Amino acid sequence: DKDPRIHGIKARIRVVPDFPKPGIMFQDITTLLLDPSAFKDTIDLFVERYKGRNISVVAGVEARGFIFGPPIALAIGAKFVPLRKPGKLPGQVISEKYVLEYGSDCLQMHVGAVEPDDRALVVDDLVATGGTLCAAINLLERVGAQVVECTCVIELPDLKGRERLNGKPLYVLVESH
Ligand code: PRP
Repeated sequence: DKDPRIHGIKARIRVVPDFPKPGIMFQDITTLLLDPSAFKDTIDLFVERYKGRNISVVAGVEARGFIFGPPIALAIGAKFVPLRKPGKLPGQVISEKYVLEYGSDCLQMHVGAVEPDDRALVVDDLVATGGTLCAAINLLERVGAQVVECTCVIELPDLKGRERLNGKPLYVLVESH
């Protein structure tokens, strides 16, 4: 039932043990980007899923959601909105804090970039605990937008991030254990 392109995508993701700290198996998508065919397959799979679904905004999470989000947005005719770490956006912002394994972080979105009638797709490279996607969903819902789905290239299903998304659907290409 799996699309045959997914095997090639998974093969291009480099897993780096103990980065950035001991015990973490880092999922490196820069090696996927080095293969134009596998990178194109990645974008094509997302576009095939989301075209024709009336999505008006693709919200990409800093930093790697800025790599996958814009080509999807262009292909489906949606605007692209960056969700950024604090202090990066020059205009008026709304902020959403989220908890990390150690400490906390925050995502910000420009006021006015997303409107109440927008239908949103949230894009990132990877979902681990789901805290980042949860913050992204909250930002979009606070301004009245409808979050149609969240999508990532990679899911770490053992961390159960899927359960933290307030019932929003999550679509991923590759699972990593
Ligand atoms: C990684 C990844 C996601 C997030 C997922 O980003 O790109 O954005 O972690 O983790 P979670 O599901 O547990 O919230 P990172 O924190 O490394 O930030 P960066 O992309 O700015 O390097």
